[in-house]
Amino acid sequence: MRIFEQMESQVRSYVRHFPTIFATAKGAILRDEQGKEYIDFFAGAGTLNYGHNNPIANEALIEYIKQDGLLHGLDKATTAKKKFLEKLYYTILQPRHLEYKVQFCGPTGTNAVETALKIVRMVKQRSNVISFTNGFHGLTMGAMAVTGNAFYRDEAFINRANVAFMPYDGYFGPDIDTAFYLRKFLEDSSSGVDLPAAVILETVQAEGGINVARFQWLKDVEQVCRDFDVLLIVDDIQVGNGRTGTFFSFEEAGINPDVVVLSKSIGGGLPLAIVLMKPELDQWKPGEHTGTFRGNNLAFVASTELLSYWDNDTLSEGIRYREGILKEELKRIVEKYSELNIQVRGRGLIYGLQFPQQGFSHNVTSEAFERGLVIELAGAKHDVIKFLPPLVIEENLLRDGLAIIDESIAACLEKKEEMIKGALRNDN
Ligand SMILES: Cc1ncc(COP(=O)(O)O)c(C=O)c1O
Repeated sequence: MRIFEQMESQVRSYVRHFPTIFATAKGAILRDEQGKEYIDFFAGAGTLNYGHNNPIANEALIEYIKQDGLLHGLDKATTAKKKFLEKLYYTILQPRHLEYKVQFCGPTGTNAVETALKIVRMVKQRSNVISFTNGFHGLTMGAMAVTGNAFYRDEAFINRANVAFMPYDGYFGPDIDTAFYLRKFLEDSSSGVDLPAAVILETVQAEGGINVARFQWLKDVEQVCRDFDVLLIVDDIQVGNGRTGTFFSFEEAGINPDVVVLSKSIGGGLPLAIVLMKPELDQWKPGEHTGTFRGNNLAFVASTELLSYWDNDTLSEGIRYREGILKEELKRIVEKYSELNIQVRGRGLIYGLQFPQQGFSHNVTSEAFERGLVIELAGAKHDVIKFLPPLVIEENLLRDGLAIIDESIAACLEKKEEMIKGALRNDN
């Protein structure tokens, strides 16, 4: 690992949590240079919903390269892009009666958020945008400004203006309706919150700690937007692409966002980000928002194949089945370790276990890594263990990974008891 410490910036982060050199990966399994296998409950932070090296994508990629398909095309028309747009339209948008224009932007999630923020501000000619507590939307200037966590919002980074934060669903507990709170602030011309161009939200806050918005809250926020002529942006970068059981995370809530940002798994592991917008919002002048890497032909090839998972209901049914196992096992763990007061929450195949004791969740994930499980933490206090396996994970691997979490909690409790006993011995 010396070369990474010597050469790579201090900013590196996941390598610190998973200190090994990964060499190969397939499906829900990662292998390091020593040949040790790890079950992946992290899935590239939601980029590998269809698993590592998915064979249908890989075969198409190899074939495309063999045929000298274009790798780079700016926003020129290419065969790969044509097939991707057709697949997205006929498999995803048309069956859901969604009329969206597609904008290709830079290849990461934050590029899509930047683009969406520009669109809404341009169309509404208003600068303010409303975001929610614990929201995470990326770390370039505009996206960082709508990201809640203070860790990322150092004052020296400037440009956090023109954003107001409102409490997300459940922020004050289950009994306080924060959609009403939003309405009240917009109604009152002396609330200090300017009428925004848009509201941006995640239907399940992932990095923010697996906070699941109720469908009714999402509907109420949408209604507030409609009543005040404000646009609604859904950031489906992490919880879209099937994570919650449907392709878009907002489908079950029955809302109809004006703008949707997608990235991560839309490229099947290769960098790709897109903005979907209602046609009337597409008011760009040609070339007004450009970039060298808009669209990524290899990602188009992979994505076109992987979107075939949505040709029928098999994937959705599989996600529901796996969610049943995940939910039941997490409930069992919560009951088994009732003295820890663990909270469980989630939707589809994104779940969180929140540990109130500071540092305990970190100890559990470190123990789990030693035992061959890759899983990360979420929440401002890093107190939530985030379960994010590939959507196609085999049942036995899902169960094995959950068993590792169970063992790791037991090991942490044992170590804690030993420490207490040791401290008592020293006192005596
Ligand atoms: C909801 C959400 N939005 C935006 C982003 C930013 O995406 P990227 O890291 O690709 O810039 C993330 C990344 O985790 C995310 O989870």
